[in-house]
Amino acid sequence: MNARDTQADAAPVPARDSHDAAPVPARAAGQPHPHESARAQVAGAAHYVDDIPEIKGTLYAAPILSTVAHGRLRGVDAAAAQAMPGVRGVLLSADVPGDKMLAAFAHDEPVFAIDTVQHVGQVVGVVVADTVMQARRAARRVVLDIEPLPAILTLQDALAAQSYVLPPVFVRRGDAQRALANAPHRLQGAFEVGGQEHFYLEGQIAYALPLEQRQWWIYSSTQHPGEVQHWVAHALGIENNAVRVECRRMGGGFGGKETQAGHLAVWAAVAAHRLGRPVKLRLDRDDDFMVTGKRHPFAYEYTVGYDDTGRIQGLQLMLAANCGFSADLSGPVADRAVFHSDNAYFLEDVEIASYRCKTNTQSHTAYRGFGGPQGVIVIEAIMGDIARALGIDALDVRMVNLYGTHERNVTHYQMTVEDNILQPLLSTLEHSAQYRRRQAAIAAWNAQTPVLKRGLALTPVKFGISFTATLFNQAGALVHVYTDGSVQANHGGTEMGQGLNTKVAQIVADELGVPFARVRVTASDTGKVPNASATAASSGTDLNGRAAQFAARNVRDNLAGFVAGLDNCGAGAVRFEGGQVVSPTATRHFDDVVGMAYANRIQLWSDGFYRTPKIHYDKATLTGRPFYYFAYGAACTEVVIDTLTGESRVLKVDILHDVGRSINPAIDVGQIEGGFIQGMGWLTTEQLVWNDKGVLPTHAPSTYKIPATGDTPAHFKVDLWPAPNREDNVYGSKAVGEPPFMLAISVFEALRNAVAAARGDGQAPLQAPATAENVLRALGTLIN
Ligand code: MTE
Ligand code: MOS
Repeated sequence: MNARDTQADAAPVPARDSHDAAPVPARAAGQPHPHESARAQVAGAAHYVDDIPEIKGTLYAAPILSTVAHGRLRGVDAAAAQAMPGVRGVLLSADVPGDKMLAAFAHDEPVFAIDTVQHVGQVVGVVVADTVMQARRAARRVVLDIEPLPAILTLQDALAAQSYVLPPVFVRRGDAQRALANAPHRLQGAFEVGGQEHFYLEGQIAYALPLEQRQWWIYSSTQHPGEVQHWVAHALGIENNAVRVECRRMGGGFGGKETQAGHLAVWAAVAAHRLGRPVKLRLDRDDDFMVTGKRHPFAYEYTVGYDDTGRIQGLQLMLAANCGFSADLSGPVADRAVFHSDNAYFLEDVEIASYRCKTNTQSHTAYRGFGGPQGVIVIEAIMGDIARALGIDALDVRMVNLYGTHERNVTHYQMTVEDNILQPLLSTLEHSAQYRRRQAAIAAWNAQTPVLKRGLALTPVKFGISFTATLFNQAGALVHVYTDGSVQANHGGTEMGQGLNTKVAQIVADELGVPFARVRVTASDTGKVPNASATAASSGTDLNGRAAQFAARNVRDNLAGFVAGLDNCGAGAVRFEGGQVVSPTATRHFDDVVGMAYANRIQLWSDGFYRTPKIHYDKATLTGRPFYYFAYGAACTEVVIDTLTGESRVLKVDILHDVGRSINPAIDVGQIEGGFIQGMGWLTTEQLVWNDKGVLPTHAPSTYKIPATGDTPAHFKVDLWPAPNREDNVYGSKAVGEPPFMLAISVFEALRNAVAAARGDGQAPLQAPATAENVLRALGTLIN
């Protein structure tokens, strides 16, 4: 900018001497700001898709579900449904105007079942009616003519039949067989962990509005508006530019709205297309359970060789993922399980086989941790097994196996662990939680107590941050400064309760030196920031926060150049803080500067774009640097089991977790607590049971038990590791959304220690989740 021009154009400015400037006020980032929607949410004033005032003429859809796990779909008799009051239409595969297969990456899922059904709950079509209840009642009257075919319902059957959604993947380093042969000790094990229903408070929902000239507006509760846009366009046979998708917030996603939200949007859009009316589709809780995918259940087999200290010498590991009937995100989920089956430990000679099994169940999908928890749990179980076999403390076994800082620091996928803080982090928690003293006290207590047995475990987590598919690690944002000095930010991420918008607003506020309250973040919208990745892999703030920071920086640079012209200084000498713009000679209110800049035709809004540096990896061999950095943490958990009833309680939890330099400590601690409790649910009470017909009877809160307030441990202490991210990440922070979930593996290992104490033979054959039945089974006392 030409300084003389701006000076000539500038109106007289009220300028104060810079010596008058107020003391530098606190910046927004680093402060425990309440969530930007917290008040509105508790007051019921925050809008979810079902709260949006409806357009006149809106109709409601309900799904028609397969009652058979696998079969030939010979016919659909909708006559009775059509005759029901209020029914406007029954839409089936033939009604899809574009591709009858969803635009899922493997192209293996029909929009509506075509000539086969592949699981109980698969959507065969939708009934559309004047009210939600009319649609739901009529959907139950649709008669499906299905000829049953043999169904594969368990991981064991899928493995035996080599039934896969994607080919197996093998990762090797060194020579595991030789290392096992040479190891002083060996042991073998096998166990299973169950799946997990997302149980977002807001169920899956989409609202499709036909606009003029074959254009569409879709309200979707989705973590990935860009994919919803793409899927709807694909199913309707139109271009992406004709579909606009908006999501202000979700009432929780947890991975369950990464792909699954797209199905609902497509179903609603197909119905709206046929009927020429807006259509809303909201699954009720039971249908949501029956239709949508969950966390992948896993089965494991391992042979491990180790020395007298418990240090692992060789490991052969088999991971089998139950993917359900289609690929969905199973490839990257199973990859992440492979990437995390080292957790915090150096595995020199290792052989991993990963099977992506096809079964006739819902298609399992992303869920907080994205396969990471299923990788971490097996190596932690192995650590516990080795310790019990050697009769030494499991923390000692964990410590001797930790990654080193100069040697023993390359992962089995050839990434050097450059930012390792495991040793000091675990030692700090060991002392602050008084691990050794309590371990001794618990041993003494268990020796005297016949019925109740306690267990204690301290487990680490090391979680890789970045999408493993490198291309997704990009993000865009827009920052608009309006003429009154208020600021609006928009980015490609989505808000699901995790506080992304709050953090973005903090970052933007600091970049412009304005108070947090001046910045509003608006709904995610494919018409504002295009081609955005899913908000997932915990990278929402890393990616979108940086993109928004860059956008705000562009606006700030424009304003700084303008002020530099006014005050005859360098733009770099202009500071933005406390709602003021400070040059060496003058201090002005931000709003005044904005008003003047506008009058001088200075651009007051900008885009920003960010892509994560340094990352790359080879999909075929799963080697490279898939992660920009690691987030670390550890938890020390004490549990008690009742050996007569199998019931258990988590008594005390101490967590030390690494979020780098926290952008918002209140939100970060909330994420750590919430992630831990959700992980605790996965490993204790949340049990999905499919019967021998492939029906999921556990499809409501009456039969599926998530943790309640009363399950919160009485002692629940969360501390943040005090150092910033050593990689150049926004504000020096680290991602926090998923890593704490895996801290709950300490609950499972503590339960196994309690089981071993009760059995007295050093064995802990516990399956996850550790329901009362499974605890009794592990004790060998289940009678039925
Ligand atoms: N926290 C809340 N309250 N609700 C959610 O749905 N999803 C989790 C985590 N924390 C979730 C949450 C998952 S699966 C991910 S990947 C991250 O948030 C996504 O958001 P982020 O990348 O902004 O952390
Ligand atoms: Mo989270 S499972 O990456 O949506």
